[in-house]
Amino acid sequence: MANILLGVSGSIAAYRACDVARELMRQGHRVQVVMTRAATRLISPDTFAALTGNPVTVDVFDEPVAGEIAHIKLAQVSDLVLIAPATAHTIARLTLGLADDMLTTLALATRAPILIAPAMNPTMWSHPATQAHVQTLRARGVEFIDPTYGVMACGDEGWGKIADTPVIVQAVQQRLCRAHDLQGVHVLITAGPTYEPIDPVRFIGNRSSGKMGYALAEAALAHGARVTLITGPTALTPPAGAEVVPVRTALQMYEAVQERFDACDVFIAAAAVADYRPERALRRKHKRTEGDWTIRLVPNPDILASVATRKGQRIVVGFAAETDKALQHAAQKLKRKNLDLIAVNDVLEAGSGFEVDTNRLTLLYADGRVEELPQMSKRACAERVIEAVVERLTPARGE
Ligand code: PMT
Repeated sequence: MANILLGVSGSIAAYRACDVARELMRQGHRVQVVMTRAATRLISPDTFAALTGNPVTVDVFDEPVAGEIAHIKLAQVSDLVLIAPATAHTIARLTLGLADDMLTTLALATRAPILIAPAMNPTMWSHPATQAHVQTLRARGVEFIDPTYGVMACGDEGWGKIADTPVIVQAVQQRLCRAHDLQGVHVLITAGPTYEPIDPVRFIGNRSSGKMGYALAEAALAHGARVTLITGPTALTPPAGAEVVPVRTALQMYEAVQERFDACDVFIAAAAVADYRPERALRRKHKRTEGDWTIRLVPNPDILASVATRKGQRIVVGFAAETDKALQHAAQKLKRKNLDLIAVNDVLEAGSGFEVDTNRLTLLYADGRVEELPQMSKRACAERVIEAVVERLTPARGE
């Protein structure tokens, strides 16, 4: 049984939320409804209160239980937030992070997964503004139950009708299962670049932003994992709930991984570790007046390969940043580094690799299988990598 927060916004399809609430309750879930003010013009909060047996909140200052801050309490106890129907306006407010009513405030305050079932006129659904908002929310891990094709209340025909109740309920069930499929599993992730000091002001680094590794941490958390994120220097805010271990150099990352590898069940190496470091870092700034300057570089240890040799039952995933013969080079790394899976990205391809929000990964498995993914947000890529980990862990856990 799960606590489901059902958000109802002001679409003519608001009445369909009654069916959804009833069906979720029939499946054994506890349903708490939060409505936008516009939705209350289409269906009465009393209807949902009677159906669910729980008070319905609309305003952020509503306080169904005296002395309890409703939006914080509801945000904390909810296992999943379902917004059905979601209007274009509600989707836009969620994208911007507005908190001007109970529903949008809750969406900001919760760590529960969010599912959205849109319902609107087809022209509004296909409008670039709405589609851009949908993309932004998807990149943040929000999932959409896509609208269907049909004739709208206004007479227009097209994509925009809210999905059928069984489809919505099934999506909720699937999402709830996924929220627990890494429960009790410890995922160790490396992310970002390493900086190798040359002197007190200079270093050798690379273009990694950390976005891919942080997206993996977010996805693993969404599946219920305990996550340790060992991160090189980035400008990103680490996902809430992850244990964060900041490092700067490859040697520091190496030490941090060695210390934690034995206690993990899954290791994912998404960091762009500098393969070389200056043999010694100068104590004082090197001056231009000193003329030519040769820096001798020595190799850094291969962090991934060093731990994969003693992986035992653990699942070990590598990334391969390639510029040519990507699959061939990645397949060699998969074998040489004793990995279960390697995710290859061509870092010369537009919309792929370093810095950008999207990636195009090909997954090479130890059993020789190759899975090509389309270009998509790094969060969606991360989701697929984590699903692949779950698929590999399930037989190992004897389920
Ligand atoms: O951070 P972003 O801007 O989002 O960019 C994402 C990314 C391009 C950095 C990411 O998708 C990626 O490809 N990460 C791996 C980068 C890399 O170092 O690839 P590689 O082919 O050189 O190394 C192969 C694997 O060995 C990687 O898993 C790497 O983490 C690991 N490695 C490499 C060298 C080393 N000394 N120690 C390692 O553990």
